[in-house]
Amino acid sequence: MSAMEVHDTIEGFRAALDTSRLAGLRVGLVPTMGALHAGHVSLLDRAARENDVVALTIFVNPLQFGPAEDLGSYPRDMERDVGIAVDAGGTHLFAPTVGEMYPGPVATTVTVSGVGEAMEARSRPGHLAGVATVVAKLFAISGSCRAYFGEKDFQQLAVVRRMNTDLSFAVSVVGCPTVREPDGLALSSRNAYLSAEQRAAAPVLQRALQAGTAAVTDGDRRAGAVREIVAD
Ligand code: PAF
Repeated sequence: MSAMEVHDTIEGFRAALDTSRLAGLRVGLVPTMGALHAGHVSLLDRAARENDVVALTIFVNPLQFGPAEDLGSYPRDMERDVGIAVDAGGTHLFAPTVGEMYPGPVATTVTVSGVGEAMEARSRPGHLAGVATVVAKLFAISGSCRAYFGEKDFQQLAVVRRMNTDLSFAVSVVGCPTVREPDGLALSSRNAYLSAEQRAAAPVLQRALQAGTAAVTDGDRRAGAVREIVAD
């Protein structure tokens, strides 16, 4: 286990990555909200394979939680996360306070129209704008790098890609495959909230998606029919 540089200020983290780049090192960035699991480890592994510096960020971003959501109870365990990150090849950690990221009321936010307005945006108003805003800040702070995101949050990945293109950050966004439990449930920090009954039912989500995929692959192009197969 080697040591990891830990930063809680924007200035310190930015300077550390600038110094690395000046030394000719390639920087990989893995933005997270902590509660690390094997999905995050797969992002860190890939970042370690493709870069010299593996910078992990842990920040439970209040801007992406709705008023009735789980900001207060979101799982937090910094000591455990640091151990996992070091074992996975993390070299730098940025774990700012809310005050460091948002020193005053937030007047400037990033909204992504089109892909940022559909699907999850309807049930979680403000969520994807909160994600786009914090990721834009992390990209601005980190500078030129490759940034790794899971395909599990597929709409989030699409929003981040669009935001990155539109705002011309010096970042190459890399989407990484979803990591699943043996029964098909996608790994997620929030799986910890599931009751035994919900946990037993959850793998149906992957089966539903596979059934929809199979229908389309077999040539069915009727959106309503495919939707019904997924719902069944
Ligand atoms: O996917 C997450 O963990 C978060 O939405 C992200 C991208 C770190 C932004 O807070």
